[in-house]
Amino acid sequence: MLSLGIYQRNMWHKSWRTNPHKNCEIIDRISRNATLVAIVRKYLGAEPILWLTRLRWTFPPSDHPVNLRPPLDRKLGQYGNAFHYDAHDFNALTAFVYLTDVNLDSGPHMIIPGSHKNKSLQDLAHIVIKDDVAQRIFRNKIKVILGNKGLVFLEDISCYHKQAVCNKKPRLMLSVDYVLRRSVPPESVTFQDG
Ligand SMILES: [Fe+2]
Repeated sequence: MLSLGIYQRNMWHKSWRTNPHKNCEIIDRISRNATLVAIVRKYLGAEPILWLTRLRWTFPPSDHPVNLRPPLDRKLGQYGNAFHYDAHDFNALTAFVYLTDVNLDSGPHMIIPGSHKNKSLQDLAHIVIKDDVAQRIFRNKIKVILGNKGLVFLEDISCYHKQAVCNKKPRLMLSVDYVLRRSVPPESVTFQDG
């Protein structure tokens, strides 16, 4: 088992870690936190499956070791900086945990609450929307989530969301995806198991 501190200090060569809960006890405990899981269970209306956890550093341009950054990270970063929605399952919920203090300079998470509801077929076809389109359609519904290290928030990521551009300070965020039916290869991890 690794400590969260080791992840925090030693991820500078790589922006992403997938499923850190499998070898970091504190992340596993966060992911299975009884209060968190109870909220997810109530939202999903059934026993959730812990589908995926991810740790992601985001760096301001001047901090990032550009030459070491793999092309896949660049692609994911660009996608995350545009409003988009995700569909992990027919119903899913994601917990986000800020592991660094996040202000307007450190790429805060942005969300358009309610945009997951009543999607038309045309809406469904637009997984990614440009900022000007989001501003025109949703205007003052767009929220920026600022907070100190330790802030936890839950989101149905079938609503439009994105990461704002990281200007000055690095950001480390944990995401924990809970689903209802989708299996995690090679095995599904349910909360009754842990
Ligand atoms: Fe997303």
